[in-house]
Amino acid sequence: MADRSDTPFEQWAAAEGVPIVRGYYVPDAYKIALAPWKRTGGPGAIIILEGGEGFTSSYIAEIPPHASLKPERHLFEEKIYVLQGKGETRFWNEGGPSRTIPWQEYGLFSPPLNVWHEMRNTGDQPAKVVAVTDAPLVFNIYRNPDFVFNTNFVFKDRYNNEPDYFDGVGKMVDRHTWVGGFIQDVRKPNLGERVEYGAGYGAVEVNISGNGMGSHLAQIDVGAYKKPHRHAAGAHLVVVEGTGYALMWETWDKLVKADFHKGTIYCPPEGWFHTHCNTGAQVVKHVALRCGFAGIGKIYQQRLSIKHGGDMLDRDEEGPEIKKLFEEELKKAAK
Ligand SMILES: [Fe+2]
Repeated sequence: MADRSDTPFEQWAAAEGVPIVRGYYVPDAYKIALAPWKRTGGPGAIIILEGGEGFTSSYIAEIPPHASLKPERHLFEEKIYVLQGKGETRFWNEGGPSRTIPWQEYGLFSPPLNVWHEMRNTGDQPAKVVAVTDAPLVFNIYRNPDFVFNTNFVFKDRYNNEPDYFDGVGKMVDRHTWVGGFIQDVRKPNLGERVEYGAGYGAVEVNISGNGMGSHLAQIDVGAYKKPHRHAAGAHLVVVEGTGYALMWETWDKLVKADFHKGTIYCPPEGWFHTHCNTGAQVVKHVALRCGFAGIGKIYQQRLSIKHGGDMLDRDEEGPEIKKLFEEELKKAAK
């Protein structure tokens, strides 16, 4: 794995004083050991996966029952997925009105850039979220935490106190794209099948809070797997429900297999082929929280097969090992 320990982001993360989890994937985000985090005011941990590659990383934050984390604003974007519990988040621009959205397990929201936000647990149990951010990119450019966390600039082009901005209903703007303020339950939206990515694979792009980071909801039907493909760094896949495994490889002899279930997070490194396989008895649901920086690095064409100059392996291109392993794993899972 690449050593990025001398980068400004890594140095900031080390100084935060919470556990740092590393690897190609996190087997179970619910089981990560947390420690008190002075910055947030609650227990937390930082996750730096290899596939973030200096663009994205994530963290876990726990909010004790009926408590709030400290308000914060920052010059990095984040997409926050609710792992457990229920609560609400208040958003406001300096001097502006505040808006509050409710959330619960399976919710997804995203503070607009540099907007103040405060998370509160309204339940009797600890609430827990995982947030994927582009903090590595921002820290590595500006190298100054005070600037990142204490800049007054209001990005009115993102959020200008519009009363309906955090409207959770949102709308589909085309067949595969949803735009809105937050998602109450990522399992609910109807995901149209995208057969070009493989039979039984469905996905919808979700644009939240006008942020540049990308995200999508995906589902893999029982007995299906997505065609292997490769793309830019930074996509964190959080498993919402279902069981199966992901394969990630740069070369087949260095294959990384991540068995997954609810709470697994994996992040394929740039240019590594990977696939998502459902071996369970229920539909697999993922929420993918990604970079969205158009124009940075190589432009991959993941809807185009290799034979057409793209970055996806059609069924006739993937080689026999993928299917063979899938059939073995299906048998194992059925026992
Ligand atoms: Fe992918």
